[in-house]
Amino acid sequence: MKHLISVDQVSDRSMLDELISRAERYRKLMSRGVHSDYLANYIIATLFYEPSTRTRLSFESAALRLGAQVISTESASQFSSAAKGETLEDSIRVVSSYCDAIVIRHPEVGSAKRASEVSSVPIINAGDGQGEHPSQALLDLYTIQQERGKIDGCLVTMVGDLLNGRTVHSLAKLLPIFNDVRLTFVSPRELAMPRDLIANLSPQIACREIESLQVALEEKMDILYVTRLQRERFASPQDYARYENLYTITPQIMSQMKDSARVLHPLPRINEIDSVVDNDPRAAYFRQAENGLYMRMAILDSVLSH
Ligand code: NCD
Repeated sequence: MKHLISVDQVSDRSMLDELISRAERYRKLMSRGVHSDYLANYIIATLFYEPSTRTRLSFESAALRLGAQVISTESASQFSSAAKGETLEDSIRVVSSYCDAIVIRHPEVGSAKRASEVSSVPIINAGDGQGEHPSQALLDLYTIQQERGKIDGCLVTMVGDLLNGRTVHSLAKLLPIFNDVRLTFVSPRELAMPRDLIANLSPQIACREIESLQVALEEKMDILYVTRLQRERFASPQDYARYENLYTITPQIMSQMKDSARVLHPLPRINEIDSVVDNDPRAAYFRQAENGLYMRMAILDSVLSH
């Protein structure tokens, strides 16, 4: 893997299994307090043009845990030369001469790909607008594997803003690689999965699109993947308000789910999961966020050992 721009680059079962087992190895090493200097002498740059907590800090922590050093621009749209009008391409050309890999988040779809075309070092896409978020999808898979023991055979229900949420785009593209996975998408019609994505998925996998979470619950899903409304992608606050509070995971919803089911969420959560649900052992989203560290160690390691 030279760059990680889209999940299309890891759409091979053996690569996915390898990344998941590498992440698991790092989890075990960390739990025993073993430190790695695998990336000593490497410098990782994180260039974030959009807000982030988990993705940036877990990538930085992953780099530091592997012995690398980190240079970073958060709020790059205000604090980097982008504010002076520099193009993304020029910034990347320059930053790539200062480091060994760049982790980038940018509001435009396709920005990470553009960056990879001019960069002299690997580019890792940490979210390009409504496009993709491949490292999140990989840590989501790792979490499903860890929580259920396997990914094969699971029914995954994704709920929320499926049009604008990039994590669901990447995850939905990866799941058909596993055996007998079924997908149910729950959203208002206007926020449904992008049509081209559905068109690509439907020959490969059983998928269903509905508006009612209550109907989806009858299927007894294994994974309920909840997403927030992507407020920043709506044209106006009124537009956003139309969909606010449409789906909320409450203890009453949880009571209709199997004991073996799990609730995932890429976070941040706004109000789509009642905080009381956090105490339910099936709420896996904080474990999922922790897994981000181990999967990002695995990603940095495999990108830089290329
Ligand atoms: C997601 C993102 O940025 O796409 N956050 C994350 O990286 N965990 C999800 C979101 O912002 O809703």
